[in-house]
Amino acid sequence: MESRLKLFPPASAVNDSGHLVIGGCDSVELAAEFGTPLYVFDEQTLRGKCAEFLGEFTRRYADAAVLYSCKAFINKALAQLFMEEGLGLDVVSGGELSIVRSAGFSMDRVYFPGNNKSAEEIKLALELGVGRIVVDNLQELSLLEQLAGEEGHTPDIWLRLTPGVDPHTHRHIATGNVDSKFGIPLVLGEEAVTTAMSASALNLHGLHFHIGSQIAETGPYEQAIEIILKFAADMGQKHGFGLKELSLGGGFAIQYTLDSPVPPVSAYAEALTSSVIGGCQKLGLAQPRLFIEPGRAMVGQAGVALYTAGVVKDIPGVRRYVSVDGGIADNIRPALYQAKFEAVVANRMKEKEADKVTIAGRFCESGDTLIWDIALPPVSAGDIIAVPDCGAYCLPMASNYNASLKPAIVMVKEGKARLIRRRQTLDDLTRCDLV
Ligand SMILES: Cc1ncc(COP(=O)(O)O)c(C=O)c1O
Repeated sequence: MESRLKLFPPASAVNDSGHLVIGGCDSVELAAEFGTPLYVFDEQTLRGKCAEFLGEFTRRYADAAVLYSCKAFINKALAQLFMEEGLGLDVVSGGELSIVRSAGFSMDRVYFPGNNKSAEEIKLALELGVGRIVVDNLQELSLLEQLAGEEGHTPDIWLRLTPGVDPHTHRHIATGNVDSKFGIPLVLGEEAVTTAMSASALNLHGLHFHIGSQIAETGPYEQAIEIILKFAADMGQKHGFGLKELSLGGGFAIQYTLDSPVPPVSAYAEALTSSVIGGCQKLGLAQPRLFIEPGRAMVGQAGVALYTAGVVKDIPGVRRYVSVDGGIADNIRPALYQAKFEAVVANRMKEKEADKVTIAGRFCESGDTLIWDIALPPVSAGDIIAVPDCGAYCLPMASNYNASLKPAIVMVKEGKARLIRRRQTLDDLTRCDLV
């Protein structure tokens, strides 16, 4: 079980009692103090990822910026941490925009993509003066032009293009292929560029693409960069378009299971920056300011979900189910796109993995299974199950299914834990109801 430690935040360890330790805190004590399900974020890992992405990219490409993609998970504490670390943010809704604003994040470092922004959301972005509005389609372009004109704003914008490459990831998280709800297909790119360039209320600063998520190879990025730079060069020749800024999106993969290693951040940085530098040289383009938008890779490994085991059910000759006190309501990813996770028994870290079990959630759906057929030490009711790599796309997709309470979240650092979101209460379940 100790080999699975490498999937947890880097400084995780096992103490003399055989308990999993995260950020210097005994995870079994955290579960006792704050209850379960509990999401634990390791501050050192979060700050380390910020430094790693910034360092690896700016070392190779001086004019590079890192935007954290808030959809992976955001709250006030995280927004403040990313501000301290010198990152920008990518938000996809008025809701995310409001959260980061309430955390005091500088609006000029906030970038706003999204495939169906409402007029209210666009107006909010204009009023707050976000850094860039990332226009996703021609309809949005004309709505933005109209709203900016009416309200007397001159927003800086990017155009999101779909380069038409296959990112080799699950189809639910692929976005860069031609047949996608996201972005402007290349065949309409010229119309978008000329419309944006001629709109007096809009400042076209650059282009954006995001080809998908959990992309474990660099090839699809290299293809997309080549296609988009070629498009920019064409637009330069035909219409005098200058590519001042280019965002390559996010999508960098993290290692969820022991048998699915992923490239290090340095490999992505090397491939992406050298493609941009080489492509610009070949096409005679000035090097644009470069942006990346990692979400999952920034917070995924920093977050650990802790559950308490309850019913252990044997179906002789078939399977042993261990049901935990969370599941689909706090982590829908296995049900949504067959995401795979590993787990450990946090209070039995030194025991042999002599059993094979399936970890099921507590919700009324047969699809509510977190992990199929995993080798663990024999589990009894009351044991603490820890699932690594739960920092991204679990909490933001959490629901109140079966009227469950959304989990508490703690941030751990140097042996201290602070609550960064309280667990919901039963009163929260009816707070918005009117009779
Ligand atoms: C526009 C955009 N940028 C960045 C991301 C972040 O992707 P990831 O979390 O895979 O890095 C997404 C996720 O879907 C996105 O839509």
